[in-house]
Amino acid sequence: MIDVAARIERLREQLREHEHKYYTLSQPTISDREFDEMMRELQQLEAENPALIAPDSPTQRVGGQPAGEFPTHTFSKPMLSLENAYSQEELVEWGRRAQQLAGTDQLEYVAELKIDGLSMALLYEDGLLSKGVTRGDGRTGEIVTGNVRTIRSIPLRIQEPVSVEVRGEVFLSLTAFRQLNDERELAGHPRFANPRNAAAGSLRQLDPQMTAKRRLDFYGYSIFPTQPSQEENLEWIATLGLKVNPHRQLCRSLEEVRDFCSHWEARRDALDYEIDGVVVKVNSVALQGKLGSTAKSPRWAVAVKFRARQATTKLLNIRIQVGRTGALTPVAELEPVQLGGTTIRNATLHNEDEIMRLGVQINDRILLERGGDVIPKVVSVVEEAPDRRPFEMPDRCPVCGGKVFREEDEAVRRCVSQTCPAKIKEAFLHWAGRRALKIDGLGYKLVDKLVETGLVHDVSDLYGLTVDQLEELERMGRKSAENLVAEIDASRRLEFWRLLFGLGVRHVGERTAQILAEHFGSMDNLGSASQAELEQVHEVGPKLAESIYRFFHERDNLQLIARLRAAGLNMKAKTADKPRIPQVFAGKTFVLTGTLEGLTREEATELIRQRGGKTSSSVSKKTSYILAGADPGSKLEKARQLGVPIIDELQFRQML
Ligand code: IVH
Repeated sequence: MIDVAARIERLREQLREHEHKYYTLSQPTISDREFDEMMRELQQLEAENPALIAPDSPTQRVGGQPAGEFPTHTFSKPMLSLENAYSQEELVEWGRRAQQLAGTDQLEYVAELKIDGLSMALLYEDGLLSKGVTRGDGRTGEIVTGNVRTIRSIPLRIQEPVSVEVRGEVFLSLTAFRQLNDERELAGHPRFANPRNAAAGSLRQLDPQMTAKRRLDFYGYSIFPTQPSQEENLEWIATLGLKVNPHRQLCRSLEEVRDFCSHWEARRDALDYEIDGVVVKVNSVALQGKLGSTAKSPRWAVAVKFRARQATTKLLNIRIQVGRTGALTPVAELEPVQLGGTTIRNATLHNEDEIMRLGVQINDRILLERGGDVIPKVVSVVEEAPDRRPFEMPDRCPVCGGKVFREEDEAVRRCVSQTCPAKIKEAFLHWAGRRALKIDGLGYKLVDKLVETGLVHDVSDLYGLTVDQLEELERMGRKSAENLVAEIDASRRLEFWRLLFGLGVRHVGERTAQILAEHFGSMDNLGSASQAELEQVHEVGPKLAESIYRFFHERDNLQLIARLRAAGLNMKAKTADKPRIPQVFAGKTFVLTGTLEGLTREEATELIRQRGGKTSSSVSKKTSYILAGADPGSKLEKARQLGVPIIDELQFRQML
């Protein structure tokens, strides 16, 4: 008995510590599965020894705890969590029990994707969003309405004037997550470990303007009052104008559920958001009532968890990789470990600040995670090795031996040599990449050879390569050479934005390239744009504008573009055949204040953006118009003082 009590106490201590690391510090040191296993062991021991259950045991809590910076809301129905099933057997076991309790073996289930984000309750009163509340401890959550109002897929007014509570998941798409991390890196802030941590951090911002920048998203999965079935609940949520995840299925047997799970486990990487499993729910709400809930979770639902994409392993060494922009990236060399079905040997450490932040040293045991990114990353140190040794960033480029330089506002060191072979080779690989000019067959080895034999110096040289030249390269057959030439030829006719992305202008990602191509329509227009004109484009900030402007004012770059043009590459966007909205607000900045009658703020902002204008949150001399609704704030007074023209909704609509 003494042993059991001691074991229980030890588990509680460990779980409390890991909860703190996970929820409060957002720096877990063990995998979710290891955490669940400890929790299960504790539950089991407590179940066998009910006398030892204590009110402050981690088993007695539904979720994390509100941290106290926001006002709280007590739920009318607790926000429960879900029991996990880690295997098909556990799913079947759950199903059997559900059938038994329901008194039928003809149960219908709804299978939904388990989005890896944060649960959120949205309270609508007479159709208007009145509160957004985090899950907190499941009974009391934090009111974060200001932040929730910045999530574009959450309507401030739903389609029916009803009072309902919609629950669902707030998450960050992988695209938005990568963009956010890139921006943080540029600003010298530590990167977020995964989209969920990033979403959590964003929701708990005290300044909604910060949250707005994070592009959070939302999928609803329950609604109160409820309809007769989960299927109808989801349909109703969608009818009200909220997003419901389209990948769901009504299953008439557990086999169908199982197929749905395997289908999505295999395809999870195709989604632009992280899922960590499938949630299976009994469809009939009447039967849900019959099955009931425990203190922590309903018996009518279960989370089928996918194989973990977290694991622990040993850090054997850190090596430096030189990228296209000359960035020196530390790469972790690992003791090989299985992760979500593949063997992992390397992981990224991003930059030297990240190594400092993690406090990681060679030989330590580390926690590894593979998210939607193909490249796994080091999340934290699990155990410091007795023979650990610190890593030092080199102050010379490990490839060309040239100088490296760290710009003041950047977390990375870069090799500044224009002739560094690593940079040149990476530029070719970027150009040939799937997201750029899609030249299949132009991989590492071939690029190495082409550069080393001097057949190519920059990407424009690719367009002069002949089948004969290629065939002469070691191990290149006639057929492969012909294919490659055909691939290169086809890349001439691809969309203009791909070329733009392929050029590798600093900070111009795929999405930015698309926006720029659409906005300017051609290389000539883009190349002759002033910094101010570039900044007029929504999404283009001063830093990006400067980088683009500089790129188009460097002789080498202009010569490269001229050679590509001569090689017949497409330098025009196909915008002509799309109806274009007249850019009546080009160069204009609007400030919105007060409540508009027929438009939400988001809608007004979008209308302005589509017409080439910008919105800002504060009034200055540069403001073109202030659009004032009912109960305007102090901004109106300021606008009057500065002589900024004030327009109302009607005038605004006329301008459209
Ligand atoms: S149903 C009582 N459906 O998973 C029912 N949850 O581990 C509770 N989640 O806290 C939730 N996708 O944050 C449900 N389609 C989905 C979900 C989902 C993600 C999250 C949710 C919940 C956690 C349970």
